[in-house]
Amino acid sequence: MGIFNVELKKVVDDSYEIETGFGLKDKLIEDLKSGLVGDIKKFAIITDSIVENLYAKDIYEKILDSGFKADLFVFPEGEKSKVRKTKEDIEDAMLAKGYRRDCCIIAVGGGVVTDLAGFIAGTYGRGVPFINYATTLLAAADASVGGKTAVDTPLATNLIGLFNQPKKVYIDIETWKTLPKRQVYSGLAETIKHACLASADFFEYIDTHMHEILDFDAEVCSYIAEQNCSIKYKVVMKDERESGLREVLNLGHTVGRAIETVSDYKLLHGEALSVGMVAEVKLAYKLGYVSADERDRVIAILKKANLPVEIPEYIDREALVKKLYTDKKVKNGQLRFVIQKGIGDIVEYKEGVFAIPIEEEVAREIIMDM
Ligand code: GLY
Repeated sequence: MGIFNVELKKVVDDSYEIETGFGLKDKLIEDLKSGLVGDIKKFAIITDSIVENLYAKDIYEKILDSGFKADLFVFPEGEKSKVRKTKEDIEDAMLAKGYRRDCCIIAVGGGVVTDLAGFIAGTYGRGVPFINYATTLLAAADASVGGKTAVDTPLATNLIGLFNQPKKVYIDIETWKTLPKRQVYSGLAETIKHACLASADFFEYIDTHMHEILDFDAEVCSYIAEQNCSIKYKVVMKDERESGLREVLNLGHTVGRAIETVSDYKLLHGEALSVGMVAEVKLAYKLGYVSADERDRVIAILKKANLPVEIPEYIDREALVKKLYTDKKVKNGQLRFVIQKGIGDIVEYKEGVFAIPIEEEVAREIIMDM
């Protein structure tokens, strides 16, 4: 009998680069050849059924041409694929093809792909490195950066997952040109969220450059990509595991994620987020943290980005109120919301605490009015 002290203090360096640019496939290959992931020679490229032909096959062929081994693992596009079953199917396919711990996963795609592939990388063989090659504005603005990886469950989105940082993120702005318009608008919701929570100047910039963004003006899109990264990684560097500050990135998501699930994914993530941001800016107005003018400016910019600003008719409001409780910020059964302060700032409720307890009745009233 005895007590043994297992000392496992760790100093971890998970630092990585985010590279933004136009057409970064060759840069990725160059980086692999120069040892971005050490001497790994085998790459599992995970992608979806749309991105496969647009970008992933090309990356796959370039990797093979460079003398590495690689395979493509493709799943049907869409949020409905971001589930445990898809994870299991890809893992089984990787096992069947002889992938062991000496491999690296390359996620090529949007948020669904990077979330799912990053989660697989975190558990496959107890962890293998992964790289994100982001091909959507939504992945560029949010999903590919910061190391949140997860799958959805029937109860709600992103409930099962890991914090797992990639070895590098490539944000290929060239790929935005092949996005369906609806996906562009969806990605803009996360961009507008960043502006609302961190920068009045960025908000103004998006507002005055909306046409150039939608026309893929190279300079404007580069600026958008850089600002998104900069706002996000500065938060993540201070609070990777969301013990405080990172909750600010949840602006609009308490209602947004709930709507996304209750809509049965008829709404894209950014569309649900847009409606969530409207609900939450109305809440901020009710609590006295934004003026009527600021509230209206937030709603107007979302409309300008062709995003929905009303809860769709088919959404059962009571089901939506109940769904709010699946939010990861809920503490001891109490709903907690991130509240916008003016445009470009967030309310700090207590030192280091950025989510405010809100009574269900208050949230219900906002939802019922929409
Ligand atoms: N999408 C919010 C975060 O990365 O924390």
